[in-house]
Amino acid sequence: MKNIVVLTSGGDAPGMNAAIRAVVRTGRYYGLNVFGCKQGYQGLVDQKLFPLEPESVANCIQHGGTILKADRCAAFFEKETRDQCRAFLTEQNIDGLVVIGGNGTFQGAARLFAEGGPAVIGIPGTIDNDIPGTEYTIGFDTARNTALAAIDKIRDTASSHNHNFLVEVMGRNSGFLAMDVGIAGGAEIILTPEFDLSIEALAQIITQPKRHKLSSIIIVAEADQPGRSIHIAEQLREMTHLQYRVCILGHTQRGGSPTTLDRKMASEMGYLAVKALLEKESNKMTAVLQSQVQIAAFPPANCLTRTLQNKALLELNDILCI
Ligand code: F6P
Repeated sequence: MKNIVVLTSGGDAPGMNAAIRAVVRTGRYYGLNVFGCKQGYQGLVDQKLFPLEPESVANCIQHGGTILKADRCAAFFEKETRDQCRAFLTEQNIDGLVVIGGNGTFQGAARLFAEGGPAVIGIPGTIDNDIPGTEYTIGFDTARNTALAAIDKIRDTASSHNHNFLVEVMGRNSGFLAMDVGIAGGAEIILTPEFDLSIEALAQIITQPKRHKLSSIIIVAEADQPGRSIHIAEQLREMTHLQYRVCILGHTQRGGSPTTLDRKMASEMGYLAVKALLEKESNKMTAVLQSQVQIAAFPPANCLTRTLQNKALLELNDILCI
């Protein structure tokens, strides 16, 4: 192992910079040449690599976003594109790749490796915390703290004006973010992709309050339909004549200075990813299993999303919001 590339792909997540920093500094410490590639796999398509030194990653650990930029590169799902990228990497004598991202990123890396590409190690980075085979993905903690801070602010105005709110949080296929901030923010109801409620069931719940509440907050996971809470609010008004104001937190949840947990996880994972390449591991990812950061298998191709299983948390919330 002599030359490695690091890239960030998919949606950005706070803590990605800390992971890049750890990869670059661990790589250089062990005498590897480390190259960056901008905008995820697009940088490979464009055949643009540039050297990264320890000083290249100075003063980035505290910033959200990614200094390498990120993109969802549809072209990389084409074999022809991957063949061109593999030929380019071979020509550049690249023998290792560290990819930081989510499910799509890992799928692309696994295919590249299976088709004869360089060794690859993935670092899970997505605010959704939805990658099978790991209990944690970089960015989740920062996103839930950002969302919770917003919910607390909404509660101030909701309670001053006796208003009801639907607060929409991110989460494409998984409700980890919605569940955590719902419980921590004292939500009345939590709607997740896994345990969604019909509009009729929702209407029934809000018209039969357990006690007379003057204001309330319902958390809605976006569930691959960003803005769906607007439609839910309209339907609820038609069915119940109750007015729910809508606040969509959107991409604010993807930015901001990473929390201690995200910076530490990212640092551990970046370090471990390089150590794994040095130990000739490949086609694997860094993962948290039973609270330990370790190397684990990539998610199987037929199981791309980790979903919420713990319905008991909703029962808990039903009791805590009486
Ligand atoms: O996967 C992370 C995520 O932020 C999801 O929660 C959200 O559904 C999606 O990305 C939004 O993607 P985009 O930034 O491409 O609109």
